Amino acid sequence: MTASTTADNPTAQPIEAIAVLTSGGDAPGMNAAVRAVTQAAAAQGIVVWGVENGFDGLIDGRLRPLTTLSRSLRPVVRLEVDQAAGQGGTILGTARSPRFLTPASRAEAARTFSARNLSGLVVIGGNGSLAGAHAIASEHGIPVVGIPASIDNDIGLTRESIGVDTALNTIVEACDRISDTASAHRRAFVIEVMGRDSGYLAFAAANATFADAVLLPELRLSAEEAVATVADALLRCFAPNSPKRQVIIIKAEGVPISTETLVAKVTEELERAAPYTARQVDIRATVLGHIVRGGVPTFRDRMLAGRMGLAAVEALVGGHSDAMVGWDRNTGAGIPTEDSWVQLFPIPDVLAETEALLSGESPVTRDRMSRMSRLGRYLSA
Ligand code: F6P
Repeated sequence: MTASTTADNPTAQPIEAIAVLTSGGDAPGMNAAVRAVTQAAAAQGIVVWGVENGFDGLIDGRLRPLTTLSRSLRPVVRLEVDQAAGQGGTILGTARSPRFLTPASRAEAARTFSARNLSGLVVIGGNGSLAGAHAIASEHGIPVVGIPASIDNDIGLTRESIGVDTALNTIVEACDRISDTASAHRRAFVIEVMGRDSGYLAFAAANATFADAVLLPELRLSAEEAVATVADALLRCFAPNSPKRQVIIIKAEGVPISTETLVAKVTEELERAAPYTARQVDIRATVLGHIVRGGVPTFRDRMLAGRMGLAAVEALVGGHSDAMVGWDRNTGAGIPTEDSWVQLFPIPDVLAETEALLSGESPVTRDRMSRMSRLGRYLSA
């Protein structure tokens, strides 16, 4: 544990102004998190600035006020922040910032930070954004707290990130709709969901939609193995006396074969191996893509955003830096906050656990894989 300070540090300097930014792929609930941060800060008399377009805005000095002053000179949340809280996307704009990877640009960003007399920064985003937060905190001593937000659920030391629940609800609804039409025609569908490095969305959606097979990057399947897995599932599900009328296979984006190619190769394989079944089976591909990233946040994402936003501001006020608020019941692993489900973790620890999650070494990934293999048919035939 390398957190720089402890909670409620009595030596922490009073904070007058902070900034908040959203970075990386947007996630439903980011606006709710911006609002929560602004509200929590304003309640403590802290002025809040919104940085536009992620770290790029910090480099270029593009900030706009998210609070205004009341007659009694107390900061209050601006209307645009309130009105956007229930919307998808992010009103601050976001970016993946290649410029922020260079020390010179980070120094520019640090100059903006001090020129604006800021005392803290809240970074809302995924792993790349947290790596950026760590870089600017460790190189320039800027107090930074991260809030995990990414539909992929691939951030270490948080059970859930903002956006995951909304994305899954969108996927489940889309799969149910596809299932209706698949069943009407006795068809098979391979449905691709986002997840470049992580199969969490595919895994969770496959369970929730009772899919017949799921392909995940963590399984490290080659393209040929992915084709064989789908072909086997189809042969099993559409065996001559099978009453089944639809087959749904969920594939994560990160599996190393495009969904169109996969479907074409499976069709070829069936024609070769089982010409009778091949004549009965029509296989289609649907890539859900960015549809899954948009939309109004669910109750759960708004709730996570509200609680993590509050904890992030309280962490900055308490003198913490280079830390992320993680959603996990207080097990003693992190630094406790006032909220029994929110703990603070040093960002380097978060990034190390992220690597373990994606490489399959983390107990969390092993547990997911084990559950899937105990469900056998979800992995392969
Ligand atoms: O990081 C979230 C994510 O949605 C990934 O699942 C996906 O691979 C990526 O973003 C796509 O990002 P972009 O919209 O920048 O292409």
